[in-house]
Amino acid sequence: MALDSLWHAYNTAGYEALRASPREDALEHFYVALVAYGHDDYPEAAAAAREAVRRQPSNQVFEQGALYLERVLAQGKASVYVDGEAFAAFIRGGSNTALYAQTSEALHTVYDEYEALSLLDIGVGDGLALLPALTQNIRRLDLIEPSEAMLLQTTRQLDAWHVTYRAHQMTIQEFIKASAPTWDVIQATWSLQSVPPADRPKIFAWLKAHGARVLIAEFDVPEFDALYEPARVQHIVARYQDGLAEYEGDGGRVAQGFLMPVMFGYFDRSAARTNYEGPIAAWAEGLHAAGFEQVDTTLIYPYWWADSYLIDAR
Ligand SMILES: C[S@@+](CC[C@H](N)C(=O)[O-])C[C@H]1O[C@@H](n2cnc3c(N)ncnc32)[C@H](O)[C@@H]1O
Repeated sequence: MALDSLWHAYNTAGYEALRASPREDALEHFYVALVAYGHDDYPEAAAAAREAVRRQPSNQVFEQGALYLERVLAQGKASVYVDGEAFAAFIRGGSNTALYAQTSEALHTVYDEYEALSLLDIGVGDGLALLPALTQNIRRLDLIEPSEAMLLQTTRQLDAWHVTYRAHQMTIQEFIKASAPTWDVIQATWSLQSVPPADRPKIFAWLKAHGARVLIAEFDVPEFDALYEPARVQHIVARYQDGLAEYEGDGGRVAQGFLMPVMFGYFDRSAARTNYEGPIAAWAEGLHAAGFEQVDTTLIYPYWWADSYLIDAR
């Protein structure tokens, strides 16, 4: 398989051996660029990415990756991170529009099943999933969100609509330390992926004790064993080709300000991990283990990064 000999050299003899290994095609050069980036060898990373572009100029991941690495080389890694405006353009563009519309619609359909309901949203963010889903029958609404700025965006909108709520600016780990009531529905859209797996059993047990029904939106992301494993690299590069294609018309703003920093972050050995995505089956298993008897998973949208599911646990 492509990349296997490079992976073998790296895995058995280390980065210097990989650097000295012959490379045959564009993907092999880009592979070296990714590993070099992970080893803070930016001159090698930029040169290898440039060579990948020369060999396969039509590949957007190689092209945007090479541009990004030129910036890292010139400005240093610390100054080349996710920029807020690029993230805003990302989240409100491409197939995120359809992903969020379908998710809000699915949540709305669940709320509509109740005559009256109490609802807790964990990690509500700026309300992109929750706000369009809201129904008139919500009698009690609680929001948990650690980011003050994000929470403020949600509460401003709720205030404008005269919707009553209680906002808790904290993490779910902090929230479960105090006593709490129960809710008809507890939801978490792409927020529990920030919770380290070690914390999950405790949180799932809390969800079982405090929620009659739990709705979780997550991506079905495959698990890999090693950072530079060929299958992982090929998977991520292929997914980002599709992702970049959705933002081709914007002059590289989303690519350079959001998608490339995130993609290179997957290969950064020094980055503290902030995201623990995984297979949907693993989420369902965790919920079963916490005592949920019925756990249904429904495909909501075939998003470029991964299929997005709604998990409905009772
Ligand atoms: C990908 S965003 C999703 C936001 C929103 N739920 C949505 O669907 O657009 C993840 C959110 O989870 C929040 N978050 C991160 N860690 C958290 C934690 N430990 N407890 C609760 N929320 C958390 C983040 O601040 C962020 O707003």
